Amino acid sequence: MKQAIWTFLLFWSISLTTGGDVTVTCVLTSDCVLPCTSPYYDIIHWYKDGKSSSVHTFYDKADHLEYQDADFKGQTSLFNNQISQGNTSLLLRAIRFQDEGRYKCYTATSSVNKEQFVWLKVKVPVKWVDIKMTSEGISCSTKDVFPNPKISWYRDGSSENTFTVNTQGDKESLFSLSSVLSQSVKENTTYSCAISLGDESQNYIASLRKENVEIYPGQDAAIHCPVSQENPGINITLTFGESSITLNYSQRSQPHTFRGKTFHLAHDGTITIHNLESDKDSGTYICESLTTKSRGVVHTLLKINSANHHVGVGVGVGVGIAVIVIIVVIGIIAAIIYLIRRNKGQGVM
Ligand SMILES: *[C@@H]1O[C@H](CO)[C@@H](O)[C@H](O)[C@H]1NC(C)=O
Ligand SMILES: *[C@@H]1O[C@H](CO)[C@@H](O)[C@H](O)[C@H]1NC(C)=O
Ligand SMILES: *[C@@H]1O[C@H](CO)[C@@H](O)[C@H](O)[C@H]1NC(C)=O
Ligand SMILES: *[C@@H]1O[C@H](CO)[C@@H](O)[C@H](O)[C@H]1NC(C)=O
Repeated sequence: MKQAIWTFLLFWSISLTTGGDVTVTCVLTSDCVLPCTSPYYDIIHWYKDGKSSSVHTFYDKADHLEYQDADFKGQTSLFNNQISQGNTSLLLRAIRFQDEGRYKCYTATSSVNKEQFVWLKVKVPVKWVDIKMTSEGISCSTKDVFPNPKISWYRDGSSENTFTVNTQGDKESLFSLSSVLSQSVKENTTYSCAISLGDESQNYIASLRKENVEIYPGQDAAIHCPVSQENPGINITLTFGESSITLNYSQRSQPHTFRGKTFHLAHDGTITIHNLESDKDSGTYICESLTTKSRGVVHTLLKINSANHHVGVGVGVGVGIAVIVIIVVIGIIAAIIYLIRRNKGQGVM
């Protein structure tokens, strides 16, 4: 009895609490480590706010799961081979929504103890953003994310605010978002939407751009793919009608063939296609680059003018204009010479 009081007093007087709580963000259904280190690791109790039983208990060099809250059964473990180095972190497997909350890492020896707190937040990151042109403007949408998504829009990098947002979902379920930037899509302009979750600053960015390219048969066509220097696409997909090819940006030096034509992918994302024919190869080429944090799409409308017609008309008109100009110039010079001569003749007389 006396010893118990002493122990209590000691614990009470030498109890150490760290200043700030740590926050860890764990991905739903993934495993997650709640970090904790302590020089006092003979006794380790992990608790969660709102639960009277422990999340995980360890003493006498072994786990004591008879004290564990039933809700955490089979979900927890310590890094037993690292405890003697002061690693008292908790591994929580297959994170669920209800795991969100504040955890206490209580560590002790027979004379000293330490309490540290870890906030666990659950997230489901943005894996994909659908960006497309619609009759109302440009739309971005995503689904199955957590927590609440927020969106910002940019036009050539400048912030835009003429957009609508519709968010669905709540705490304890997944969110979806759809948004429309009500502007007509202009050529050579990059429209992008950035989606972030909760109060995170980390974004998923999707961008869309429309370009027009006009060439003559036999010329090379340059199709732009949205590759940024700091975030080059992992995968680049070129699509034309039903055909598509996916390239690995880091292996771009290899030669590629698309619809029977060879092409090159340059460092800046430009795809150069050779030997195009007007009837078969005119149309919309879509190039898309994908990383884990971004998706960029460029629609290129390629127009291949049938050569002879245009070149013929061009040359014809050019020659015609040149002949008329020469005739007019000769006529003017002849008239000036005639007038000068006539004036001179009158002067002599
Ligand atoms: C504890 O060990 C685990 C497993 O090796 C590691 O993931 C974790 O980062 C370590 N924690 C600390 C605080 O050292
Ligand atoms: C878009 O860019 C291309 C290539 O730089 C250029 O030829 C074209 O005239 C531009 N179009 C507009 C509408 O500015
Ligand atoms: C792309 O190339 C990189 C580097 O060569 C390689 O590590 C990666 O696995 C490749 N990815 C695919 C999808 O082929
Ligand atoms: C890139 O392509 C490979 C193979 O098609 C695929 O396994 C991988 O998930 C892709 N990477 C991204 C970031 O989409």
